[in-house]
Amino acid sequence: MRPPALGGGLPGLGHVLEFRRNPVALVLRGHRELGEIFDFRLPGARVTALVGPAAQTAFFNASEDVLSAREVYQFTVPIFGNGVVYDVPPAELDVQMRYLFPALRDERLRRYAHVMREETETYVESWGDAGEIDLPAVMNELTVFIATRCLVGDELRQRISREFAHLFHDLEGGINLVAFFNPYLPLPAFRRRDRARTRIAELIGTVIAERRARGTAGEDFLETLMSARDAAGLALSDETIVGLLLAVIFAGQHTSAVMATWTGVLLHRHRDWLPAVLAEQREVLGEEGRVSLEALRRLVALERCIKEAERMHPPLVLLMRRIARDFEHAGYVAPAGGLALVSPAASHRVADVFADPDRYDPDRFGPERQEDHRTKNALIGFGGGHHRCIGTTFAQQQIKVIWSVLLQRFELEPIGPDAAPDYSTLVVGPRLPCRMRYRRRRRATVTAPDLAGARP
Ligand code: HEM
Repeated sequence: MRPPALGGGLPGLGHVLEFRRNPVALVLRGHRELGEIFDFRLPGARVTALVGPAAQTAFFNASEDVLSAREVYQFTVPIFGNGVVYDVPPAELDVQMRYLFPALRDERLRRYAHVMREETETYVESWGDAGEIDLPAVMNELTVFIATRCLVGDELRQRISREFAHLFHDLEGGINLVAFFNPYLPLPAFRRRDRARTRIAELIGTVIAERRARGTAGEDFLETLMSARDAAGLALSDETIVGLLLAVIFAGQHTSAVMATWTGVLLHRHRDWLPAVLAEQREVLGEEGRVSLEALRRLVALERCIKEAERMHPPLVLLMRRIARDFEHAGYVAPAGGLALVSPAASHRVADVFADPDRYDPDRFGPERQEDHRTKNALIGFGGGHHRCIGTTFAQQQIKVIWSVLLQRFELEPIGPDAAPDYSTLVVGPRLPCRMRYRRRRRATVTAPDLAGARP
């Protein structure tokens, strides 16, 4: 039996208007009316939505020959390049992901923690005593600087970070609805994407050549990939190294910027949580604001605020697969040829899983409640199963460091009305403008008056 079909929609267009306006509301409506699995229509495609932990587990556990990530992510091939990631068979993708693992081990995360702190401190040095910031722009720049250094290395960061930020912007401009259907059409956005990719490959290629000539190694992802060996004991080609670096920057930079933005927006819109977070800064990081890996792991109040931002506003609101072979769940069959999706943003608002889901309540992740651990695949802002994000720890650490530096040095206050999600882009941040007012604290660390007040 086919999954139940969602009502509404228009002849020919299906549900595309409702989907484009607010895909999360559409998925929540379907869940309310039809339950954990249902179909809706987009022009040229039937989409099966899966909502709630059991359905999400079925989605994440399906093998690649049933639900194919590779087929829906073909638009990334002109960005990452040929012979890497979604241009290779799934088994080869697994091998390529494994090349990256040494770059994500503790000793590396320790080094990145210092880079993250240094970059953030340098960034805010020029801010003066008071002013206003465009929070998404700040987070975007900061995460580009941090990514450039942690991934490609100090050489590139010193020379061309701002150019890198522009190139990245052009690469991202190559991702839109048209690219999803045909990423090779002769459009200006795609030409800019291709020019940016060529330039980035040149820049990274220069660093690789210099490192080979000097015989020096950094402590970054580039070094990890330059020392990796394939099954035959051979070094990776420059093309593979560049492609994998692009994939990682692409997967991790903008998503981190957006989650860092939401973390700050939500925390400052619900100020009664601030005292606990500030008290923890003082207790754990001490007077000089040290950021060792061990200390960062003890920032549990901030961690819960980051998780609550992930729950309420996951940057990737939809995860898609092509149904390559008939997909069965709960007695229904979604036939081959359609699309399947889960929506982290919608499923995080299901009340059976997260109590009072529209309420900002980081304590839901505390030891007494642990709402994310009661069922598998409940909190899925970083995906699940085989394609689960490999950069979760890196991303969470980065957001912790950025907000630790900001909270220790500044009092911040959001300007204007509450921020709503902007669904017009692939990575969903708050609608602009999203500005904040800041005032530099008299002492770098958090003092007793800052801690006045208590959480409900
Ligand atoms: C807040 C930041 C981030 C968010 C919200 C995020 C989210 C996700 C999600 C939802 C997926 C699964 C996609 C799917 O199932 O279709 C994923 C995959 C992935 N992420 Fe992240 N990510 C973040 C940061 C990072 C970082 C920092 C890195 C690298 C250092 C990274 C590398 C990857 C890679 C390589 C994959 C593909 C894994 C595979 O297909 O096997 N991500 N991410």
